[in-house]
Amino acid sequence: MEYKVITKDGRAKRAEMKTVHGTIQTPVFMNVGTVGAIKGAVSTDDLRQIGTQVELSNTYHLHVRTGDKLIREFGGLHRFMNWDRPILTDSGGFQVFSLTSLRKIKEEGVYFNSHIDGRKIFMGPEESMQIQSNLGSTIAMAFDECPPSHADEQYIRNSVERTTRWLARCKEEMDRLNALPDTINREQLLFGINQGGVVDSIRTWHADVIREMDLDGYAVGGLAVGESHEEMYHVLDVTVPHLPEEKPVYLMGVGTPANILEAVDRGVDFFDCVYPSRNGRHGHVYTNHGKLNLFNRKYELDARPIEEGCGCPACRSYSRAYIRHLLKAKEMLGMRLCTLHNLYFYNTMMEEIRDAIEEHRYADYKMRKLAGMEGSQE
Ligand code: GUN
Ligand code: ZN
Repeated sequence: MEYKVITKDGRAKRAEMKTVHGTIQTPVFMNVGTVGAIKGAVSTDDLRQIGTQVELSNTYHLHVRTGDKLIREFGGLHRFMNWDRPILTDSGGFQVFSLTSLRKIKEEGVYFNSHIDGRKIFMGPEESMQIQSNLGSTIAMAFDECPPSHADEQYIRNSVERTTRWLARCKEEMDRLNALPDTINREQLLFGINQGGVVDSIRTWHADVIREMDLDGYAVGGLAVGESHEEMYHVLDVTVPHLPEEKPVYLMGVGTPANILEAVDRGVDFFDCVYPSRNGRHGHVYTNHGKLNLFNRKYELDARPIEEGCGCPACRSYSRAYIRHLLKAKEMLGMRLCTLHNLYFYNTMMEEIRDAIEEHRYADYKMRKLAGMEGSQE
């Protein structure tokens, strides 16, 4: 792995990361395909067309259904999905906490019931690394606990200390797996995850500890879980300076276009979020003049594309009126077209962000982009 900062504009970083599955240009938005597929009938061929650089899948989901052992037998997730560019897998920690019931967190890991069939499962740092190794993703995430947003300071402190011990075990297990001759991707990378809720001193203490562990990259987790946008930006303001500048920084599960614009300005270079695909499936589409709800009656005879000049597969061929009709008729094509447009919008925004940083006009670009999107067409 080779990560190189090409240029900076203020705190915004424009970087390049070379991996065994190709080079990632950052800042980048990773397109979320939880179970190895972007929801909304979007194929990996589509992803290539809409400028996706990195696909993101989930350890937990692939483990409980179909199973990572089967995917390993098939030759790994890249071959399974027919996607040869980078894949990042989340570790399972976050999904276990948000989806399952009857969880028990112990020092060794988490005991929980599958959200599919209720069967008892155990996952700890070693299991998470083994599953991600079976999938053969480009980047594996450390197994962490994302403390609930309402947790008190003592809970957060204990949780972050345990997450730190888990991180050491993740690293040891990843090193062991990468040294085995029959491992699918022997150059699998490991990103650590910073936690600490909205408590500045825990965030910075934790960042200082994990930066010493010399990982391939660093994520800021535990955000967008109920705190305000201002609190999230504050956590980035205090935390990112404690992470190594010569390593990639990933803000997990974030966010709106405005959140991304603000986080880039605070030194973040990786993002992922379900918003563009989830909103697309509900007929909510992003434009440079705000979000549209295509279910709105006013589009029933609107012959314009979702966004004038957009190069996505939806806008190149179809009108708002037709897509509205498809959505109303619950035709899959309606959701698919809206999802493709939204992902294209995010991917294109990241490209604009990269250009603006390179040309040292990021502050101006951010201001104009935010002002444009504020004016809603609704
Ligand atoms: N996705 C969004 N937030 C988090 C987090 O805190 N941890 C993990 N593992 N995944 C996330
Ligand atoms: Zn479009």
